[in-house]
Amino acid sequence: MTSYTGGILTISDKGSRGEREDTSGPQLQAMLGEQGFSVVAYAIVPDEIAIIQKTLLAWVDEKKIDLILSTGGTGVSPSDLTPEATKAILDREIPGIGEAMRQASLQKTPNAILSRGIAGTRKQSLIINLPGSKKAARENLKAVLPALQHAIYKIKGGTNDCGS
Ligand code: MTE
Repeated sequence: MTSYTGGILTISDKGSRGEREDTSGPQLQAMLGEQGFSVVAYAIVPDEIAIIQKTLLAWVDEKKIDLILSTGGTGVSPSDLTPEATKAILDREIPGIGEAMRQASLQKTPNAILSRGIAGTRKQSLIINLPGSKKAARENLKAVLPALQHAIYKIKGGTNDCGS
């Protein structure tokens, strides 16, 4: 299995001010580690479009991180801006990732429809928005995790036949 790099971006006003412990970020870090990813970046930023985008751009364009998971800010509160911040810097969306996460999450809670998280590529990086709570982040990532190694392989131009 190829060892890809990962980055975890926790998006939370309270977390960025040190007023709330980030439990989702470390959990995602552990889940990626179990899948053979090497987590090379971790940050907590407030729900501000410019700061979110600055971090994503640095992680893609400079650090060239293969998989970036954001957690938080996907909902419908006025401060939830993660999907808007992400969409503007993507080259291509991958709607199936969000669809799969919401479909799986609906088996857990009707509130799953409230996550507006999106996913897509910028250059050769895959970016996925996950909801903010530890439980929601875990459940959403679990729904798509089995496809991520293959997704990254393809994003990088891998030419092996799918299904082989
Ligand atoms: N998805 C799963 N699998 N499990 C959950 O508990 N919580 C939902 C939803 N998705 C949840 C979930 C709730 S309550 C909200 S408000 C939205 O994710 C958005 O979360 P966020 O604003 O923290 O990103």
